[in-house]
Amino acid sequence: MVNLDDTNKEFHNELKNISNNDELTNLQIKYLGRNGIINDFLKKINDIPTEEKKEYGKKVNELKNSFLRLIEVKRKELSEKKSDKFFDSTLPGKTFPIGSLHIVSFAIEEITKIFEKIGFIRVSYPEVDWEYSAFEALNMPKGHPARDDFETSYIDFPENLKFGKMVLTPHTSNGQNREMKRVGKPPIRMINISKCYRPNWDATHTPMFFQFEGLCVDLDINITNLKGTLDYFAEKYFGKGTKTRLRPHHFQFTEPSFEVDVTCTVCKGTSKVNENKCKVCKSGWLELGGTGMVHPNVLTEGGIDPKKFSGWAFGFGIERVIMMKYGLDDIRNYYSGDIRFLEQF
Ligand code: DAH
Repeated sequence: MVNLDDTNKEFHNELKNISNNDELTNLQIKYLGRNGIINDFLKKINDIPTEEKKEYGKKVNELKNSFLRLIEVKRKELSEKKSDKFFDSTLPGKTFPIGSLHIVSFAIEEITKIFEKIGFIRVSYPEVDWEYSAFEALNMPKGHPARDDFETSYIDFPENLKFGKMVLTPHTSNGQNREMKRVGKPPIRMINISKCYRPNWDATHTPMFFQFEGLCVDLDINITNLKGTLDYFAEKYFGKGTKTRLRPHHFQFTEPSFEVDVTCTVCKGTSKVNENKCKVCKSGWLELGGTGMVHPNVLTEGGIDPKKFSGWAFGFGIERVIMMKYGLDDIRNYYSGDIRFLEQF
């Protein structure tokens, strides 16, 4: 019982010296908290001889109630006490830094808006997809070099008889077949923006990156429509006066196929190949990505009659267009998490 009396005295001593709410809360936790002194006393009840148990329990409870009351009184006292410190209410408040969109998210928003204006619908098809959507449906049969496991990452997942294995999709072209089947009958105007994966890591490649894939299928769609759309995009995204050009190329899923260049954002296309060479482009042009008229096999696989409908498609890298727009030289910075870099945009 001596213990209880000592505790009571100690509590009173400590309470006397308390000058603010935080200290009072700490005192309350120390004495009345779950692992506090009062609970310790209650836990000890088993060690007390039976005939004293009742009296002991009563005393501990009385002590507890008295502490509660005193703490209550003290809290009231503290809240009524006026602070004697001078408070200058005219000082400016603390300002918190305002966050912003990541450079890649911002570009995705911009690109989406540009294409929505001309009737394209933004979709986002799976980044983990079947071999069928990523290759087969795009006229890329088994044995195509891009399907090598050195180029494409395969998922450890049971193979499907029709759709093959699962892959981390290496391009957004996997959305073409899915969109054709979703829409059913043309017109189709799709902009598929999604993550892609390829095992490269250098200044212009990260193993995870974003692409945006355009697909337009309708009656009488031709290369003129494609060129017009590319010019529209280039002017809106890179700025007025930006031009595009098409160079013959090869892709399995388009025929004919092209690579698209845009006039360099730094020298505005004025660089000559031999003299006055621009350090960024060396020729007046920068490569944007691949495009072409959708191959008849791809339309057929998507359930569309290639004799009736035609279409074009393109696939460009988001990190790449950002690089071209701002004249950046290392896309690994985008994902370094270095706020000093990201804050600039
Ligand atoms: N899928 C191609 C790549 O990732 C890019 C591409 C080329 C997409 C031509 C297209 C296209 O839609 O028509 O390299």
